[in-house]
Amino acid sequence: MTSEAITFYNDWHKTKGINSWRKLNDYQTVVDSLCPSPYKNILDIGCGTGHLLKLFSQYKMETYGIDISEIGVEIARRNSPNSNIIIADGENIPYADKYFDIVTCLGALEHFDNIEKGYSEIVRVCNTYGLIYISVPNKYFPVKFSIQKEVKLSLEEWIKIFEKDNIKILEIKKDNKYRWLWTPMKYAYQYAFIMRKY
Ligand SMILES: C[S@@+](CC[C@H](N)C(=O)[O-])C[C@H]1O[C@@H](n2cnc3c(N)ncnc32)[C@H](O)[C@@H]1O
Repeated sequence: MTSEAITFYNDWHKTKGINSWRKLNDYQTVVDSLCPSPYKNILDIGCGTGHLLKLFSQYKMETYGIDISEIGVEIARRNSPNSNIIIADGENIPYADKYFDIVTCLGALEHFDNIEKGYSEIVRVCNTYGLIYISVPNKYFPVKFSIQKEVKLSLEEWIKIFEKDNIKILEIKKDNKYRWLWTPMKYAYQYAFIMRKY
C-alpha cells in the first residue's frame, strides 16, 4: 500500500467525518443477506468509518475491522466502540488462518495494489464453511468516475478472480446505489458477491 493512498484516505476521512460511503440502509442489507446469528465473529476489511461493524455488533458477535487510514480507524472506533478495529493492510491481514466466520470487504478490494493477494488473504482468514461478502465496481457502468486509483472489471472478470476450488459463489447481486434502477446486470454500478469457503 502506497503512502499516497494512505494520505488520500486520511484526508477523505478528515473531511467527511462520520459520513458513510453509502446509505446507512445499505449496510443493513449486507447484514441481512448474511444472516449473522449462527456465526461467532466477523472481519470487515477496509472498514472505513465502521458503520457495518456497528450493525454486526448488535448480533452478539465479535466484530473486527481493519483499515489503512488511521483517521478512518479513529472514527470507526468511536462509531462502533465494541469492535476491535486496527490499522492494517488488507494485503497482509494480521490474523491467523481460518480465524473468522464472516469476512466482508465493501468497496475496498478494487483499491488494493495487488487484488489477487488481497483476495487470497480474505480466503485465508475465512473459516471453512464461513461466508465472504465482497462488493466491487463494474467497468461497464455507463457513468465514469473514480475517487481514487481503482480497478474496475466486468462481471465475468471478477468471477474469474473469485472462483477457486474451495470457494462456492452463492449469489451475485447488483450492489449499492442505482441497484433499484432497471439496469441489466451487465451495466450495474457495483456487484456484491456472497461466497462460501469449503
Ligand atoms: C470506499 S471506502 C469503503 C469503506 C467501507 N467499507 C464502507 O463501505 O463504508 C474504502 C476504504 O478502504 C480502505 N482501504 C483502501 N485500501 C486498503 C488496504 N489495502 N487495506 C485496508 N484498507 C484499505 C480505505 O482507507 C477506505 O476506508
